[in-house]
Amino acid sequence: MLRLGVNIDHVATVRNARGTPWPDPLRAALLAEQAGADGITAHLREDRRHIRDADIDALMSGLRLPLNLEMAATAEMQAIALRHKPHAVCLVPEKREERTTEGGLDVVGQEAMLARYIAPLREAGSRVSLFIGHEPAQIRAAARIGAAVVELHTGAYCDFDTEGRTAERDAELAALIEGAALADSLGLEVHAGHGLTFDTVAPIAAIPQVKELNIGHFLISEAIFLGFPDAITEMRRRIEEARS
Ligand code: PXP
Repeated sequence: MLRLGVNIDHVATVRNARGTPWPDPLRAALLAEQAGADGITAHLREDRRHIRDADIDALMSGLRLPLNLEMAATAEMQAIALRHKPHAVCLVPEKREERTTEGGLDVVGQEAMLARYIAPLREAGSRVSLFIGHEPAQIRAAARIGAAVVELHTGAYCDFDTEGRTAERDAELAALIEGAALADSLGLEVHAGHGLTFDTVAPIAAIPQVKELNIGHFLISEAIFLGFPDAITEMRRRIEEARS
């Protein structure tokens, strides 16, 4: 089965726009669980622009589903992760000015640092995931440093699709398919995510080695029109259809 992790960051974005207590990310996470999500993902950014520290406290104590905590590889975030010991920690590159996570982590360029960084997280029992592009060198480096999971960045594939650049989209998809096979052959669990929509999810869900998709912004967007549970149900339906 292909798991669906629902990213609730942008529930917090709406809340923070007005400084109210609503909409509450934990309430959204519990609703996502009822609608069939297999996990909840939240990205605690350095600037706390969406999820904040108190949200992580609330999710850790109020959720039954596993929490996948996305974060940059900083000392501050490592201390937070070691305090909470979430089910999974997904390391992402983070630039203060970016609108969203733009590229994958450079594991090759920071191999020794990342190997040291993830060791205590692994010892604390969190599954360590690295958010990377499909480049074979990055995948091999992730395996060398002992990550349990790689999450392949589907953002470029989705952007090309939106822009109607079909040849580039198909090339990107082919590279993701190859990357997933390579990662799986090296013993890494393969996840994928970023930018996925109803229109783009099927070819990614059909990659047999992919075990989990993490989807946020589009589901929160569709919640305006369909409601959050129905948006999740429809995403699941498309995932299952693609998988079979
Ligand atoms: N996976 C990772 C590692 C991410 O950083 C994000 C965005 O926070 C997502 C998945 C979800 O992307 P989106 O919100 O575009 O669905």
